[in-house]
Amino acid sequence: MALHANFGVLLFCFCFFFFFFVSLVVSESEAIEESNDNDLLEFPLNLEYLEAEFFLYGSLGYGLDTIEPELAQGGPTPVGAELARLDPFTKDLILQFALQEVGHLRAIKNRVKGFPRPLLNLSKEAFAEVMDSAFGKPLNPPFDPYANTINYLLASYVIPYVGLTGYVGANPKLQHPTSKQLVAGLLGVESGQDAVIRALLYERQALQVTPYEVTVAEFTNRISELRDKLGKSGLKDEGLVVHKVHGAEGKITGNILSADKDSLSYHRTPQEILRIVYGGGNEHVPGGFFPKGADGHIAKSCLKSSQWLMDA
Ligand SMILES: *[C@@H]1O[C@H](CO)[C@@H](O)[C@H](O)[C@H]1NC(C)=O
Repeated sequence: MALHANFGVLLFCFCFFFFFFVSLVVSESEAIEESNDNDLLEFPLNLEYLEAEFFLYGSLGYGLDTIEPELAQGGPTPVGAELARLDPFTKDLILQFALQEVGHLRAIKNRVKGFPRPLLNLSKEAFAEVMDSAFGKPLNPPFDPYANTINYLLASYVIPYVGLTGYVGANPKLQHPTSKQLVAGLLGVESGQDAVIRALLYERQALQVTPYEVTVAEFTNRISELRDKLGKSGLKDEGLVVHKVHGAEGKITGNILSADKDSLSYHRTPQEILRIVYGGGNEHVPGGFFPKGADGHIAKSCLKSSQWLMDA
């Protein structure tokens, strides 16, 4: 009888610790998965902040601090963003894009803790630098994204597409269905924005951008080439008019959407994206639109590893 009782206690203890241990292991691996999803979901906040502010200022002359201050979480006000001189049709579209980005920020922050708005450099000088790099020489006068509709659309060509490729890249790395659903929802609207911007530019592909005597198509080709060069991962970016071999089915030079040989969207890693938005091709060295670097675990760990290299 006593033996049975002891055996029972032993069995109980064994079962208790077994299940305790199993649940510990399971919850730990869930935590790892969750943190991977979290990292991948918070990273795009950087680009969503950038787009939200660029589009808000461009269409309204003010930004998140006026529209939805709590989404900025006390992050510094962007530097150099301005109201753009847009025709009424484009202004209407850009305002819609701007408000869509506000929704995106909220959707991501409802899912992950995120971080406050990082310091953004949206000055015309920051955009002028991108264009100078794209052409491999200083444009004269310096490119001003806020000067008129066509310049603003060309500047807009610079950003949402990078977010799009990031969402395509993030998707297969996500574990949870809710994360995948969020990213698919963000991707859908980002690629819609990119398509609208590209369509408006495609319509004016042969237009000479004053005073540079360079066509709209040439601008887009140069910007896409620059992003590929900075990303350092091969062809993932295509302008509006390409060699036939890069058009859909290798059969056409018009290139309204940028996509691979099977017309699937290209994908980029967070590191590739940082190389592009920092402007210098190095994910460890902030600059460009993010003078103090992007935020979140992924971007921060790139900055830390550069700190470590500098200290060493
Ligand atoms: C913004 O970018 C321009 C061009 O690179 C630079 O001159 C300016 O100092 C930058 N501003 C900040 C606050 O980083």
